[in-house]
Amino acid sequence: MKNILFVASECVPFIKTGGLADVVGSLPKNIDKKHFDVRVILPNYSAIPWEFRGQFKYVNHFYMEMGRRFDSVYVGIMEYNYDGITYYFVDNEFYFNSEKPYGSPRWDVEKFTYFSKAVLAILPVIGFRPDVIHCHDWQTGLVPVFLKTLYAGNEFYSRTKSIMTIHNLKYQGVWNIDTFKYLTGLPADMFSPDKLEFKKDASMLKGGLVYADYITTVSQTYANEIQTEYYGEGLNGLLSARHMDLRGIINGIDYNCYNPATEINIGYKYNADNFRDYKYKVKADLQRELGLPVDSGKFVIGLISRLTDQKGLDLIRCVIEQITDDNTQFVILGTGDDRYENMFKHYQWIKPMQVSANIYFSEALAHRIYAGSDAMLMPSMFEPCGLTQLISMRYGSVPIVRETGGLKDTVEPFNKFENTGTGFSFTNYNAHEMLNIINFAKDIFFNHREQWNNIVERGMKKDFSWKNSAGQYMGMYDWLIG
Ligand code: GLC
Repeated sequence: MKNILFVASECVPFIKTGGLADVVGSLPKNIDKKHFDVRVILPNYSAIPWEFRGQFKYVNHFYMEMGRRFDSVYVGIMEYNYDGITYYFVDNEFYFNSEKPYGSPRWDVEKFTYFSKAVLAILPVIGFRPDVIHCHDWQTGLVPVFLKTLYAGNEFYSRTKSIMTIHNLKYQGVWNIDTFKYLTGLPADMFSPDKLEFKKDASMLKGGLVYADYITTVSQTYANEIQTEYYGEGLNGLLSARHMDLRGIINGIDYNCYNPATEINIGYKYNADNFRDYKYKVKADLQRELGLPVDSGKFVIGLISRLTDQKGLDLIRCVIEQITDDNTQFVILGTGDDRYENMFKHYQWIKPMQVSANIYFSEALAHRIYAGSDAMLMPSMFEPCGLTQLISMRYGSVPIVRETGGLKDTVEPFNKFENTGTGFSFTNYNAHEMLNIINFAKDIFFNHREQWNNIVERGMKKDFSWKNSAGQYMGMYDWLIG
């Protein structure tokens, strides 16, 4: 039996701000329990719903030194078994008592420095000795750093390997070096350009990428892209130097949670064989719910997303008037930057028959939009993997995407002459290129409906479950452990 520990800042069903939480929530369940004992460790945020928190079991506590910040800081350990997985929660009210997992950058840097240090201090106390510590994103970047420095030569960790998985290179946990020296107690020579230093500051993610034994990211195309300057966020040099230790493994989605044939959030269930008879009814229900004209002849485009510039919303801003013609309805769901929230609210106000801006998040409404829309728009500037396009294909909503990262690896562009493909895509980050491809999709939808339905059907028949990717992770664990 090999022990694997996932370390992350978010995980479904406890706490979620983005796709990271879906992956950390679903991948461990797809790892073979006969060979691997996979456990997950998270912060014990007060924002975790009480239905879970109320059941967490106190295990132990101790006090830990934290650089020059604290001689002794409280570390509590809570445990909860859920759906066959053991979860640990690092308990400290001072750091984790907040409505959201992330707040101001300075405080987040401190909070996750504490978390990373506490994780390594906890494992000997609970007696779980990992063969692999699998770290996710910048919040956990200092785990490989502490493992190879503070814990170098420590018997307990003598066989432990670490993996750093990049879900998004843009967020790195960057702050000034003096603060990091103060918080971590790490010696000055660790803050050099070949280690933690990043443009005169220090980067937690960079630390993880330097010290981890192996690096993965969530699609092969993104693994290649981040070795270039355009996508590299200042770390392309390091990533190309380590390219032999870097690979992309595409994310899967939870096939039980996302299944139009068993879906509880929609009025009509359907599958790849009978969607022609039912999907338009789900669409009518969605239109009714959102107060849009109920008309199956309209082309309904969905957008379910964190509203940040990464998602290509500036392209939409340029051409939203042209996208939302009289035959089209545009349904938005998500929250994020004010400027995008306001932009969509504004267009809903001036075009209430065409635009429905739902500036909040609801899992149930998300499922109804996946099922009720004809197409899903994802014109991302960059997209490490992207889960929305995978879920929308599962529900028969045709993805319209930019060819980057995981979008490129999972959406096969429609070829009108050969009648192949599962979606529509464009290459350059350019609003008119996007508009052209949306117009092409509209032409197929309005004038060649059987071809459109074939695209839907091919997408629904694809397998985006974890089966294949979980196998790749297991192979990597075995290979790394040796
Ligand atoms: C981040 C990325 C997204 C990816 C997700 C899970 O949210 O932006 O592309 O799918 O992480 O890996």
